Amino acid sequence: MVIYESISAFAMQALYPTQKVFTIIIWFGPNYTCAHHHTVCWLTNAFGFAIQAYDPYVSESFMSTVGVKKADLEVLLKASDIVTIMCPYTEESHHLIDERALNTMRKHAVLLNCSRGKVVDNQALFKALSEGRIASAGLDDTEEEPAKMDTWSPDMNPLFTLDNCIITPHVAYISEDALQECRRVAAENARAVLLGQTPPNLVKP
Ligand SMILES: NC(=O)c1ccc[n+]([C@@H]2O[C@H](COP(=O)([O-])OP(=O)(O)OC[C@H]3O[C@@H](n4cnc5c(N)ncnc54)[C@H](O)[C@@H]3O)[C@@H](O)[C@H]2O)c1
Repeated sequence: MVIYESISAFAMQALYPTQKVFTIIIWFGPNYTCAHHHTVCWLTNAFGFAIQAYDPYVSESFMSTVGVKKADLEVLLKASDIVTIMCPYTEESHHLIDERALNTMRKHAVLLNCSRGKVVDNQALFKALSEGRIASAGLDDTEEEPAKMDTWSPDMNPLFTLDNCIITPHVAYISEDALQECRRVAAENARAVLLGQTPPNLVKP
């Protein structure tokens, strides 16, 4: 199991059994090759959580095949105890979780961001965490994306001063299994192309 998935599992254990709604903001497309989103669903299901997801590009019927309910972002944020974000960073997802979104969340809610730092407005999150408007956050990247900077120090982001915010350096997926899986999938796709076949993980057939 990769850490990426474990983060969500730990948060669930902390909350279970008093709260029960788990939100995946941002789902997996039907062509998604890596299994982490699916695994998060298996884990959450095992803990008895209701799973809801927001993803404008994935249909309700597809989500229902794995027992997940599709809903609007605001509806999900209002209802969820744990919110985990796993979408790409685009113009559309810039500050998807902003002050308004954080104000919509429940007071005891936990926010997890495994995607890029700028999907979450860090200033707004600092405020929400300091004022106890949400309970805690686990971030696998911060807005300034330290890994891409030549010089960086934790003083650059006040989130590093908070006890209720855990921050890791965008390496949550790294495990022996995950690295092997990346190589296997890449090799299988390259092989198919070289043999003139359709690659198994073609995104837009
Ligand atoms: N922390 C880690 O170790 C780790 C590992 C892998 C990927 N990532 C990060 O996760 C993010 C997603 O990567 P991916 O490969 O799953 O991407 P992806 O392109 O497969 O997208 C995942 C899902 O997000 C949905 N989506 C796209 N735009 C959206 C929006 N505006 N709102 C809601 N849903 C939207 C897509 O429909 C898709 O189903 C990236 O930012 C990447 O950096 C992190």
